[in-house]
Amino acid sequence: MSMADRAQTWSPESYEANARFVSDLGAGVLAWLAARPGERILDLGCGDGALTVKLMAAGAEVIGVDDSQEMVEAARARGVDARRMDARALTFEAEFDAVFSNAVLHWILPPEKVVAGVARALKPQGRFVAEFGGHDNIAAIVTAMRAVGRARGGDLGLAFPWFYPTAEEYSEMLEAAGFAVARTEQFARPTRLPTGMAAWLTVFRKPFFDQFEEPERSQALEEVVDLLRPSLCDREGSWTADYVRLRVEARKP
Ligand code: BEZ
Repeated sequence: MSMADRAQTWSPESYEANARFVSDLGAGVLAWLAARPGERILDLGCGDGALTVKLMAAGAEVIGVDDSQEMVEAARARGVDARRMDARALTFEAEFDAVFSNAVLHWILPPEKVVAGVARALKPQGRFVAEFGGHDNIAAIVTAMRAVGRARGGDLGLAFPWFYPTAEEYSEMLEAAGFAVARTEQFARPTRLPTGMAAWLTVFRKPFFDQFEEPERSQALEEVVDLLRPSLCDREGSWTADYVRLRVEARKP
């Protein structure tokens, strides 16, 4: 299998169909940010810009960055000043009043590089407000993939490419980068999956299933869905993902 086969890719169409709820659930972290008119804000991992335009509507001057060219183009189509950039290699120096990020940071390893770039990008007294997957996020889903991967002799690393820290772990990382942590909150957010579990797995963990040739690939997908049904699917057939969020606000001295 080539590295390209293992890469997670993003398409605005698939995001719209399967994951629009992610930006719809952004109100809480936007409230923590409380963007003010005239502030310069970096939206780190802006995706298709659905939340970026809310910061712009608050009167902030916003730059969005994302590592997916397709997402950058979708954000530009909404009028966002969006640029393609790797979050581990941010090129900004002391130019933002705030860095904001929603539902992205758990994808980006190593997190220390992201935190260092955020610290560099902020002006003195600038704030970093972010929400992403916290410890125990999608624990049932990960366990089911690992069980199926193990039974089939697969690569278990492909079942867990994420970083889901506790509030304590992430606070320590922020403090090591010079931030003062103002507040953190970790909370369960069981989230209805409008297109079901098989679609969610196919969109978000395709590389895990693609390590198998057909018909094993489809069988593995069916087995994971079957393992999860008793805990994550209700009697009407509606699926809920066991999301856990970590929300943080930290300030650069
Ligand atoms: C999350 O937002 O926690 C998430 C989304 C897709 C895959 C894994 C985690």
